[in-house]
Amino acid sequence: MASSFTVCRLHTIGRGSLAKCLQKVDTFLHRNIGTNVVAVQEEKNGFKSLYAVQAERQEQAEKSVLISCHSRTNEKQFLKYIANYGDIQKYFFYESYGMYAVVEFANQESVASLLEGTAIPSISHESLVPFKSRLLSMRNLDSVDLPNQPSGKKRQAQTSIPINELIQRLSKEESIDQQITSLTEAYQLTEENCRLRFLVCSLLKDIAAAFFPECTIMPFGSSVNGFGKLGCDLDMFLDLDGISGKNATMPKSGLFLEYQMKRANLERIVTQNILSVIGECVDQFGPGCVGVLKILNARCPLVRFVHQPSGFQCDLTANNRVAMKSTELLYLYGELDPRVRHLVFTVRCWARAHRITSSIPGAWISNFSLTVMVLFFLQRRSPPIIPTLDHLRDLAGPEDKSVIEDNDCTFVSDFSKIQLESNTETLEQLLCEFFEFYASFSFRTLSINIRKGKEQNKPEVAPLHIQNPFETTLNVSKNVNASQLDRFVALCQESSWLIQQNNTAPSRGGTKGKGAITPWGVSTLLLPSQVAGIKSRKRRKFEPASERIKSLLESLKNINNQPN
Ligand code: GTP
Ligand code: MG
Repeated sequence: MASSFTVCRLHTIGRGSLAKCLQKVDTFLHRNIGTNVVAVQEEKNGFKSLYAVQAERQEQAEKSVLISCHSRTNEKQFLKYIANYGDIQKYFFYESYGMYAVVEFANQESVASLLEGTAIPSISHESLVPFKSRLLSMRNLDSVDLPNQPSGKKRQAQTSIPINELIQRLSKEESIDQQITSLTEAYQLTEENCRLRFLVCSLLKDIAAAFFPECTIMPFGSSVNGFGKLGCDLDMFLDLDGISGKNATMPKSGLFLEYQMKRANLERIVTQNILSVIGECVDQFGPGCVGVLKILNARCPLVRFVHQPSGFQCDLTANNRVAMKSTELLYLYGELDPRVRHLVFTVRCWARAHRITSSIPGAWISNFSLTVMVLFFLQRRSPPIIPTLDHLRDLAGPEDKSVIEDNDCTFVSDFSKIQLESNTETLEQLLCEFFEFYASFSFRTLSINIRKGKEQNKPEVAPLHIQNPFETTLNVSKNVNASQLDRFVALCQESSWLIQQNNTAPSRGGTKGKGAITPWGVSTLLLPSQVAGIKSRKRRKFEPASERIKSLLESLKNINNQPN
């Protein structure tokens, strides 16, 4: 009989990068969500709630500045200059469109004093928008005399390694399990990238605060759910609940004053209007914000732009609390067992390599849908690796109660209440089984449902039906067309075969010794797609698998013959 044990025992390796990087805090943390002061237990059995992680990151970001500097700026001189304004807590340099430094001070007063000592650019042929932000430029009037070295600054990579390099790297590993962990390490967000994401939110907040001083802007989605890959977009949530009166308590008797406020018929209209104005400000006043697009008629209205100094593609939304909840849920699942993150990273990477997913919206499977598919698969293991959402709801206490627009979004936040079953499957087994599971899944009749952790009959006609975990009448993969689903299934079939054929590392001193690296295991799964031509299930029937396998073996041979 499967014994059960608490999550903390399993949770010893592979912590989410976000939580891992944070220092241990031993007491309760009080987080201010608008008018609500919510006490969040910072750490329970070694776990940090997403709220706690976000609050700490947000605080760091508010004490930070982003400085564009010359690539030959001398690090020592730079730091000496900055240290005139206060104690530097942390700094790093990175390259985007030019060289940048993120500097975090020990306190916000130092930021204020640095801004005080910062000059307004003197220009003669253009006019300036007089908005002062924490995005600065380091100038050197003695530039002729720049310190000799191109500087020994360690530049932090903000993008993931190219797929070919990844294939080579993985091919050098000894086991498929090591390949999978190595893939996660190569692709996950770094500590610095996480900080930069929160800093960009904080810079944006400075703009929105001109109208809404009590607002917050928080990242959500893959920037914080533990599944973010270097280079993923930055989803931001403009939180105005503290101002809009949500969660506020009304006096029961006596006199009181209330604000006069403009009204609109629908909350959606208010959201659209706010985003329209903030979008305009970002466009007109936000240094480094380019290509601003207001997409206000989408189901979830948003402002999209590129924040050039960080290189992030940004989506700013408001009134999007359900997405915040999904983020929290995904984060929780990722923290419960290290295999969850490893498998999600590998499947996301595999899907991207074969263009099953794309950064452009369309009829393909989204990363969010794919992640839900992995979670569902892990719930279907015997014994299950992660619990169902219904179970997480049953474990919830009164403090976890959350109803958003009539949707029950309640689930437990105290990790120590969650008992996991003792599934000991390896990552290799899970990856193979994942492909087999979806290669033969009855997509025609069944829906994927992580709330129940069981297939359900499809409630509507759509090629792929994945129940939205919180808005349960919605299908998160409604956009996916039949041919995209067919490509996914065909690739699962092929990958299942491939991984079984290539599951042992070539012996050391073999081809490796001669300089060529033979792709094997997970590497072979990332090679150019052999089923790229498959447009539909019908066509696949007429295309012998042997042909695809033949051409795959050919491509393996070619790669093997390439010089290292
Ligand atoms: P990448 O940006 O592709 O790395 O992944 P992501 O998880 O950030 O996805 P995306 O940017 O598309 O969406 C951001 C977040 O919004 C997701 O993580 C979910 O929390 C939420 N989300 C996205 N699509 C849906 C959907 O169809 N339904 C629901 N409920 N939430 C969604
Ligand atoms: Mg995203």
